[in-house]
Amino acid sequence: MNVKYDVLVSASEISEKIMELGVELTELYAGEEVVVIPLLRGAFMFAADLIRVMDVPVRVEFLGAASYGAETVSSGEVRLTLDTSFPLHDKNVLIVEDIVDTGLTLAYIQKLLKSRNPRSIRSVVLLDKPSRRLVEADLHRTLFTIPDKFVVGYGLDGPGGFWRNLPDIVALREETENTHSE
Ligand code: IMP
Repeated sequence: MNVKYDVLVSASEISEKIMELGVELTELYAGEEVVVIPLLRGAFMFAADLIRVMDVPVRVEFLGAASYGAETVSSGEVRLTLDTSFPLHDKNVLIVEDIVDTGLTLAYIQKLLKSRNPRSIRSVVLLDKPSRRLVEADLHRTLFTIPDKFVVGYGLDGPGGFWRNLPDIVALREETENTHSE
């Protein structure tokens, strides 16, 4: 593949921060069960690495959220594409999100899950793009703050749904943004 991109966060930096977060969450939830809820699809890789360094009883449920609109621009209208399969009442809920951009997706999901009366609800976020925030979401931890660039890799996709399998988080350069292969 002849692709040009700039690495913003390397795989080793991601792994180091996730280890730290795992230790923190293990202490925070000591003696308790946690329902970890990755938001599909972008957070699947982050969640898979995070739960392996959380030394507490963990269950995993998936939520799918998408916003209507062009691929790189959120329309502001969020819809649920997949819901959880068991009641969250009185559970410790840990939402795992890949990136908070406008904040609309996470704010929508938090409101939805709070209405199910969990014992606690927290959100851990891999990437924070604060410059584009439209609504505030309640962020327990964000691992990296990045500039206003469209990023892919480590679970996050780009045009055509590609790039999720890159181990680093990268910003595609303009000239390659719409050409995935060759
Ligand atoms: P928000 O609702 O604007 O905060 O957007 C959140 C969702 O948009 C994320 O869960 C991603 O799926 C997607 N998104 C926002 N920025 C990026 C990016 O730079 N790369 C890939 N996906 C992104």
